Amino acid sequence: MFSLTSTKYLNERTIEALLRRAQLFVNQDYSWKKRATVVNLFFEPSTRTSLSFQMAAHRLGLTVLDFSVKNSSVQKGESLIDTLQTIEALGVDLAVIRHKEDWPSMVAGMDCELSLVNAGSGALEHPTQALLDALTMQQHFGSLRGLNVTIVGDVMHSRVARSNLHLLRTMGANVMFAGPNQYKAQELADVPWVDMDQAVAQSDVVMMLRIQHERHENCGGISDYNKSFGLNRDRLTLIKNSAIIMHPGPVNRNVEISDEAMTDSRCRILQQVSNGVAMRMAVLEWCLQGGSNEKLVSA
Ligand code: CP
Repeated sequence: MFSLTSTKYLNERTIEALLRRAQLFVNQDYSWKKRATVVNLFFEPSTRTSLSFQMAAHRLGLTVLDFSVKNSSVQKGESLIDTLQTIEALGVDLAVIRHKEDWPSMVAGMDCELSLVNAGSGALEHPTQALLDALTMQQHFGSLRGLNVTIVGDVMHSRVARSNLHLLRTMGANVMFAGPNQYKAQELADVPWVDMDQAVAQSDVVMMLRIQHERHENCGGISDYNKSFGLNRDRLTLIKNSAIIMHPGPVNRNVEISDEAMTDSRCRILQQVSNGVAMRMAVLEWCLQGGSNEKLVSA
C-alpha cells in the first residue's frame, strides 16, 4: 500500500495535484464510493490533526476505528510494528500515526501492507500540516512560486518548519528562518537565519512557531520572548498589508503570538485549521488509491 511519511518525497506535480483536489473538497461535499477502514494512532496529544483526520474520513464516507493508545495493549509493551500488523490483520486499510519518535524509521522494512500517513514524527516531519499550509498560501496568493516565507521561532524542535521547508522549496518559494540563536537547527544551516524585524517587514508569509516546551531538554528558556521574538503589537505594524500571518497551532498566547495578531485581518490560523479537513481528505484518498497522480488529476 502507499504511504505519506515526508514532504521530501513529494514532487511539484504531486503537490499541485493534491492542492487542486483539496480545493475541490473546500468547495463541495463529497462521498467516496470505495469502502475502506482507517484508524488514528496518536501516541502524542493532538486536537486539530486528530479531529481533522477523523472529519476527513467521515466526509469521504470511510469507516473510522477508535483507537486510544492509553487504553490499548501498547500499555502492555506491544511494539509499534506488532500493533500495526495486528491492525492490518483486523482488516484496516490505512493508519494515521503521530509519535514522538521518528516512527517511519522504526517501521521501515516491516512486513505489512497498511497505508501509513504521518501525522507528526518527533521534530522531523508533519507533511499534512505543510500541505494544508500550502493550500492556505495558494488561496491567498494564487501560487507559491517566488513567495518570501519567514518561519519564526523554535525551529530546532519543529517538524512543521522542516516539512514546510521541503515543500516550499519544491514549489519555488524562498524560505528564511528567524528567532533566538539557541533554536537554530544545525542540519538546516543552509537556510538563511535572518534578523526578525527586517524579515517580517519583507515577507509575504510570516509563519510563527509554537515554543515546544515538551521537547526542550538543555536549550533553556528565553526570558521576555514576546518582546524579543513574539509577533506583538509593535511587530504587527511592520508586516505588509498584503502579507498573511500563520501558525500551525496550538499557540502559546502572548508568547510567540499576541492577542492582537490572532485577531488581525491578515491572520489565517483558523483558515489553516479548516483547510486541514480538505487537505486530509485529498491525502487519504490519494494514499488509498495507491499514490497515483493520474487518479488525483482525473478524479
Ligand atoms: N498543528 C497541529 O499539529 O496541531 P495539533 O497538535 O492540535 O494536532
